[in-house]
Amino acid sequence: MGFSYLILMVTIATAFASPINNQIHLLKPHSGSAGYKHSNLNCLSWRLAVETDNLQDWTVVPQECADYVGHYMLGKQYRQDCDYVAAEAYKYAKGLNLTGDGKDVWVFDIDETTLSNLPYYALDTVAFGAIPYNATLFDEWVTKAAAPAIPGNLKLYKQLVRLGFKIVFLSGTREAFEQPRIRNLKAVGYTQWEKLILKGDNDHGNAVEYKSSKRKALEEAGYRIRGNIGDQWSDLLGSNAGDRTFKVPDPMYYIG
Ligand SMILES: *[C@@H]1O[C@H](CO)[C@@H](O)[C@H](O)[C@H]1NC(C)=O
Ligand SMILES: *[C@@H]1O[C@H](CO)[C@@H](O)[C@H](O)[C@H]1NC(C)=O
Ligand SMILES: [Mg+2]
Repeated sequence: MGFSYLILMVTIATAFASPINNQIHLLKPHSGSAGYKHSNLNCLSWRLAVETDNLQDWTVVPQECADYVGHYMLGKQYRQDCDYVAAEAYKYAKGLNLTGDGKDVWVFDIDETTLSNLPYYALDTVAFGAIPYNATLFDEWVTKAAAPAIPGNLKLYKQLVRLGFKIVFLSGTREAFEQPRIRNLKAVGYTQWEKLILKGDNDHGNAVEYKSSKRKALEEAGYRIRGNIGDQWSDLLGSNAGDRTFKVPDPMYYIG
């Protein structure tokens, strides 16, 4: 274990609450950022295929890439990748002319875009998505309203508000979780928004259809979607996607 690896571990240990700290020491550096591992599957190739939407409809992180995804998510690469996307989004946003009528909106997805579920995903019962999704356990986690902000995207949010954009949170979270979601958003610094759109009992269809229909309704109400940011391609594909879309990394799960 090299010195820089130790520094990384210390950084991570101080950055997260205790459930993660326990997990850290279980992680073994079998694979580096280049994804080399004693396996036929190169985990960096796998992750790149995920991020480019070449790989679709996958249900779990491949077993042999669980450690790799854990190291990526807890290490600095994930944070730097997020920061880079946010910086590009800001560069684009600050070049736009807003009309000042309050109708220029920026759409944010919530999970793994606005809020990070990493403390939950790092549990050994979840294994960064290498163990199949358990809705009951995930719902319990959402109810706790304990998700930290993704730092780069919180900064982007604040910059956009300052530029005069109205913020729309559009999430596949069910309306039953509205109160914990609001508590969570406010607790970590997302203090204002134009709309918070969650999935109602009458919202049908897959994620692309659901999000497209909500964005269509926004545009029909006179809003202009100048930007749209999300961790899933289903946040960014379909109709009324926005003038520009930004993809946040997420190798832990796929929502089609
Ligand atoms: C924004 O408006 C200014 C002043 O009308 C104009 O000079 C500039 O080209 C516009 N920029 C964009 C990106 O449309
Ligand atoms: C989800 O987790 C709960 C609590 O551990 C367990 O009782 C349940 O069987 C799990 N569900 C699935 C589908 O694995
Ligand atoms: Mg998401």
